[in-house]
Amino acid sequence: MNTHQAPVLPPATLGILGAGQLGRMSAMAARALGFRVRTFDPSETACAAGIADHHTAAGYDDAEALRRFASACDRVTLEFENIPPAALETILAAGVTVNPSPRVLSVCQNRRREKEFLGSQGIPCAPFRVVDSPAALKAAVAELGAPAVLKTADFGYDGKGQVKIPSRDTDLDAVWERLAAPVGVLEAWIPFTLEISVIVARSATGETAVYPACENIHANHILHLTITPARVSAEVEARARALAVRVAEALDVVGLLAVELFVLADGSVLVNEMAPRPHNSGHHTINAAVTSQFEQHVRAVCGLPLGDTRFMKPAVMLNLLGDLWPAGGIPDWTRVLRDPAAKLHLYDKGRPAPGRKMGHITVVADTVEDALARARAIDAALRA
Ligand SMILES: Nc1ncnc2c1ncn2[C@@H]1O[C@H](COP(=O)(O)OP(=O)(O)O)[C@@H](O)[C@H]1O
Ligand SMILES: [Mg+2]
Repeated sequence: MNTHQAPVLPPATLGILGAGQLGRMSAMAARALGFRVRTFDPSETACAAGIADHHTAAGYDDAEALRRFASACDRVTLEFENIPPAALETILAAGVTVNPSPRVLSVCQNRRREKEFLGSQGIPCAPFRVVDSPAALKAAVAELGAPAVLKTADFGYDGKGQVKIPSRDTDLDAVWERLAAPVGVLEAWIPFTLEISVIVARSATGETAVYPACENIHANHILHLTITPARVSAEVEARARALAVRVAEALDVVGLLAVELFVLADGSVLVNEMAPRPHNSGHHTINAAVTSQFEQHVRAVCGLPLGDTRFMKPAVMLNLLGDLWPAGGIPDWTRVLRDPAAKLHLYDKGRPAPGRKMGHITVVADTVEDALARARAIDAALRA
């Protein structure tokens, strides 16, 4: 396996596996730095393709296409975690370094491995049990109690693949059927007061740079608003940042690691899940931080020095889901743009669908309260 981590400088070619909005914004940051960009995605029309110098539409199991892709790249990264680690191994075998590594990807893409990793490192997370049958689920609920939540081990996102268990009387055979997966992870329900995330960049030499904590508000299990600075005490902020760095170091990740956390009433912090890539809760870094998360990811995976993670001003990010699109039309974007502090980002994803992430808005202001009020006003105007 090639683990060569020499710096890769522009105008070298960065390959990105996956070509959704995270790949698109990563590609834009890479191009701003003077890199050339190649994307690889099963879809011909994936939204990062239009930003890349070259796009390969092929499956992640197409070893020949992966080898051709690798031969044109100086370094390869990814934009989402549901890529088979074998695809990364194929690229490594072709002599091109991939960050994050197949091992990091394998841990972060599967809830069982993720939770077992956190447990093995003594990193605080929700109490959990791995279950593989209705009988195992019943035994686990008897041990952990209720409420609880059962999650699929593989391919969960935006609350998909999760079934809540409100009480011990819940029909667990029905819950198991609804999960429709061979393996699940049962988690105790955490009565958190706040959800936050911390994005850490880590270079191959072990240097880390950590962003301020972001406060996340979900609607229907999908991120709705991200607020920075998070409205937490300095102690909670420091605890969350330290925990995120600890996870990144324990994982030995190269690139970004986004760590989602629960904040409890007593100020303690638990790790919920992590993603080895740019994260939806970091989109406002484009407009409000010295270094955007996308630029930082490119720097880290290419072996360049990391950039300043400080926010220049408070900022709020509002996701724009397909639900906002009127039938057959487009939203009236002047409702966003007439606030001079609102920055509109659209991903050119084509067909809007309910819950589909079509774009986002960032409002940058002097105070969190002002940024939040303006983001909410824009949201209301778009829905009107
Ligand atoms: N153990 C838990 N206790 C309380 N709420 C939870 C728990 N697990 C998940 N949630 C809620 O569900 C959301 C989505 O769960 P998460 O595990 O982050 O999956 P994903 O983001 O991949 O859909 C979390 O952001 C949180 O609001
Ligand atoms: Mg999550």
